Amino acid sequence: MQNPEKHNITFTVNGERVAVNVPPTTTLVQVLRDELSLTGTKVGCGEGECGACSVLFNGKLVNSCLVLAGECQGAEVLTIEGLAREGHLHPIQESFVRNGAVQCGFCTPGMIMSTYALLAENPAPTASQVQRSLEGNLCRCTGYQKIVDAILESASKLREQASPEASGAASPSASAGTDAARVAKGDDHG
Ligand code: FES
Ligand code: FES
Repeated sequence: MQNPEKHNITFTVNGERVAVNVPPTTTLVQVLRDELSLTGTKVGCGEGECGACSVLFNGKLVNSCLVLAGECQGAEVLTIEGLAREGHLHPIQESFVRNGAVQCGFCTPGMIMSTYALLAENPAPTASQVQRSLEGNLCRCTGYQKIVDAILESASKLREQASPEASGAASPSASAGTDAARVAKGDDHG
């Protein structure tokens, strides 16, 4: 098969402008991992079935194994690496750690990006809405209940933070340091 010509593609990842020179048929997850060294986003099936590669693309949850670099010109992409701020995990990440929703960690970046998209759209989901939202994200370790618990807890924390009475952002638990570092970058599996 003919190797397609490389194109210059400029877009924004986690708030920073980036430029890559790749064939337009390269997938977004390949660009993130191989060109930009953002290896928190995982590749599981490569076919849009497992959700391990979930990122936000122009504000919408996508499987980045199904988005081509040629579609990325001018786009805004948010990955797991873009959630923590100034050394503080995002409340969703904190809740995953606190609830034991991270086991091998392979599905975790995708689960967290899926949760981020869900809560942006529906800040107060029911347990069954959370379960439905996870249909595109596979986890072979946790049995899902801890993930559902983590999502419901993070929804509640984010609502508290958004209310005028909120007393400020929660800090990461000191005892959860190791898991917290894993969740911040999704680095377990390279
Ligand atoms: S790797 Fe993209 S959905 Fe499985
Ligand atoms: S924690 Fe291992 S696949 Fe979900």
